Amino acid sequence: MTALLLNGKELAAKKREQLKRDVEVLASENIVPGLAVILVGEDPASQSYVKAKQKACEQAGIHSVLIKKPTSISEEELLSEIDRLNNDETIDGILVQLPIPEHISEQAVIERIAPNKDVDGFHPINIGKMMTGEDTFLPCTPFGVVEMLKEANIDLIGKHAVVVGRSNIVGKPVGQLLLNEHATVTYTHSRTKNLREMTNLADILIVAIGKPKFIGADDVKDGAVVVDVGINRVDGKLCGDVDFDSVKEKASYLTPVPGGVGPMTITMLLENTILSARKRS
Ligand code: GUN
Repeated sequence: MTALLLNGKELAAKKREQLKRDVEVLASENIVPGLAVILVGEDPASQSYVKAKQKACEQAGIHSVLIKKPTSISEEELLSEIDRLNNDETIDGILVQLPIPEHISEQAVIERIAPNKDVDGFHPINIGKMMTGEDTFLPCTPFGVVEMLKEANIDLIGKHAVVVGRSNIVGKPVGQLLLNEHATVTYTHSRTKNLREMTNLADILIVAIGKPKFIGADDVKDGAVVVDVGINRVDGKLCGDVDFDSVKEKASYLTPVPGGVGPMTITMLLENTILSARKRS
């Protein structure tokens, strides 16, 4: 079998056209959605992600503000910057690009962002709502993964989804969203025993473990849907957590890297920001 590509780049472009129209509708009500991104330090990967987010905002007509802070910033200073943005009526979404320096508590930062401006969907209140299936901001990468599967009309009901990786940003929430869509979900991670046996049971395999080409053809059941959330740089070239060339011969659907999940993540951030703007009181 040769897998069909789940083309995130194409779907993201289509969705962004709709988001642009949504922004125009808001403009007729004198609302311009606003996103504030805080970047602490000089990490090159973070810098490039933030740049991509800003460019996407600009193209969609979303007002975006980049706040750059040095690595030496104290936790207190960062928290008061968040307070300022929480009170800024032109800002609908606040995102602190992770990772942040170790002397600052990531949890304290996440919890300081007002839940109604938490367009990352990382605040415990929003995570709780996601778990109970209430309407809330969904974390952008998991949200994008589920959107891609739905767009391709991949049936999730009763299917066995296996998640490889248990990060708070991707692994845990993507499993929850698939459960909300009535999949049967197994979480696996770096300490799982017999990992290959587990991944071979997957109808839908979501890989977010952060190790280049970690999943090969022997790890995948014939006809499985494989979503690669990894972004790794090897010898200057981007590659995912899945060995694309061998897995594409076995999977029914596969996401490429780049051009798969990545563009969808930013698109869902735009969508969350617009959703937030719509709820302005
Ligand atoms: N770092 C890597 N991915 C993300 C994300 O989705 N949100 C934030 N805030 N930081 C990240």
